[in-house]
Amino acid sequence: MSEKFYITTPIYYVNAAPHLGHAYSTVVADVQNRFHELRGENTFFLTGTDEHGDKIVLAAEKQGLDPKAYVDKISAMFRQTWPLLSIRPDRFIRTTDPDHIRTVQKILQKVYDKGDIEFREYEGLYCFGCERFYMERELVDGKCPDHHIKPVRLKEKNYFFRMSRYQDWLIDHIRSNPDFISPERYRNEVLSFLKEPLEDLCISRPTSRLTWGIPLPFDSNFVTYVWFDALINYLTGLGYPDDEMFTRFWPVAEHVIAKDILKPHGIYWPTMLRSIGLEPFKRLHVHGYWQMKEHKMSKSLGNVVTPSELVDAFGADATRYCLMREMVFGLDAAFNTESFKTRINADLANDLGNLVSRVLAMLNKYRGGQVPAPSGPEGPEADLKKTVQDLVPAWERNMEAFMVHKALRILWEAINVANKVIDTTAPWTLAKNPASSGRLDTVLYTLMESLRVFAILVSPVMPATAEKMLTALGINSKEELRLENARTWGMLQPETQAARIPSLFPRLETPGRKCAKKTIKNDKKHGDKKVAENQKQDNCIGIEDFTKVELRVATVIRAERIPKADRLLKLTINCPEERTIVAGVAEHFEPEELAGKQVVIVANLKPTKLRGVKSEGMMLVAKDGNGLHILTTDTPAEAGSRIS
Ligand code: MSP
Repeated sequence: MSEKFYITTPIYYVNAAPHLGHAYSTVVADVQNRFHELRGENTFFLTGTDEHGDKIVLAAEKQGLDPKAYVDKISAMFRQTWPLLSIRPDRFIRTTDPDHIRTVQKILQKVYDKGDIEFREYEGLYCFGCERFYMERELVDGKCPDHHIKPVRLKEKNYFFRMSRYQDWLIDHIRSNPDFISPERYRNEVLSFLKEPLEDLCISRPTSRLTWGIPLPFDSNFVTYVWFDALINYLTGLGYPDDEMFTRFWPVAEHVIAKDILKPHGIYWPTMLRSIGLEPFKRLHVHGYWQMKEHKMSKSLGNVVTPSELVDAFGADATRYCLMREMVFGLDAAFNTESFKTRINADLANDLGNLVSRVLAMLNKYRGGQVPAPSGPEGPEADLKKTVQDLVPAWERNMEAFMVHKALRILWEAINVANKVIDTTAPWTLAKNPASSGRLDTVLYTLMESLRVFAILVSPVMPATAEKMLTALGINSKEELRLENARTWGMLQPETQAARIPSLFPRLETPGRKCAKKTIKNDKKHGDKKVAENQKQDNCIGIEDFTKVELRVATVIRAERIPKADRLLKLTINCPEERTIVAGVAEHFEPEELAGKQVVIVANLKPTKLRGVKSEGMMLVAKDGNGLHILTTDTPAEAGSRIS
């Protein structure tokens, strides 16, 4: 395992404000950085802004600003956005920073002295949006594939980087280092591009048509092509060539990008590094696009969601979680606020939030909030212990491979094993019998210890949530947040005093609710008529009548006693919209027995009020000589599933 880690994001163009696409790459890098910190590694995380070139000059003109004032303004927007998402880069680099300008000139001179830069006349098709020449075969219907406009024919003298010299070396390097570009589809894409002879790269722009750039050190009539300038930021950020940081971190450099900029990173960049005698970066991680209605989310299409809109709606941790969980790294994903809300309600409010509040409520109730020493024989909770122990290495493997969505998926499977263990061990029943006191201690300890491990594993994606969880467990999060501590079972000290915390994730309203109400109303109208007809026949109903009764699976989010109503519990349920029902079961069940449980309800019963509490449905129970039994499903079903 490497003990050092250097991660970068693309440096973003300052021709528009940050959006969700930029936020995704930057959160990926931050999550990885935190993951490596959790492993106790020495890390460096670089992000920043790309500020030269035609695009920027045009954007500045539109706002009536000179380029420098304009780039200062937009760059600051990027810099100020990242803390909103709990992103903590070690350096925010700008290509207008004086040390970057010096580094670019130093490198240009080096490449020039080596004979890898040539001056020649070139005539070609130039796209001002991409700021590059296109070959005929790269165009779609004669237009730039990105900007959908016809490139302009330009003839000018320019400097060219003799990239083609390094083509064979690059093919060899990619072939012999399978991890160099991943996921594999992008590695194959670069290899297939390299099957054609590489053209040399035009790296200058005459000052007659562009002055907003870094002057070439060997010809003041030209400025540097924006990509040649921008890629070098990854070296400037470390203090190339003399800084100790550079020697320490360059060998472990890992870049995160989206597929739009695969070619500059997969081809230009390694050949540039080769030309100046440096080892190439270690790994390039390529992700897909966030899309809005099947189009890439982009500033030019104007279909963007801003990071601050998301943070305002969901909070930083939940936004980070959804970004990481909803996109399979490498593939495109459709952005949709409703799927974020559903994800937050299901995974964060129900699964994780409920688990934490149920376990802490039981610890408070049965052990005065103090962690007991496991003392009794083990029961079903032994499976949870095994699940958690197996989880840690699998989670680590997926994180290491940038499969964060998968790491989260298996973490949530374990969280749900813990929720299930509460139901199967029934601590409320153990608590009634003094002879089961040791068993209860073991169950509570196992649950608390699992929460400790979950908090550590949740921390790279949801740092604030991890801290809250650890505070609730009575643990100092600064010392606790090390992966080592998750690898060892049993580190939670008995007698630790847990603290009370507010619910981790309040549930969000979903619009499904309105539709459900409408359905209830309509179904009810027909249902009444049918039921009346059938009652005339001798107590039998036909299947068509049965199907009028809308039975659904619901998950209990919260259960509370109703003051001055000894028999009633108020249940807040997810079905999948949130609603309340009042159930006459308080004499048979403790509220914490019901929280998190899946139940069956009649969903289209006419709403009524009981003791001032609105009841929108009825929970089904079976009654026998032993009391009441709650109807549930044998394996977890999605909240709201129709029963037929
Ligand atoms: N300035 C260059 C990068 C130079 S790096 C040496 C650039 N800037 S950009 O502002 O256009 O940012 C492109 C990057 O932003 C993508 O590679 C990706 O990281 C992120 N994204 C922009 N839109 C995106 C989506 N719709 N979806 C996912 N990521 C996206 O290119």
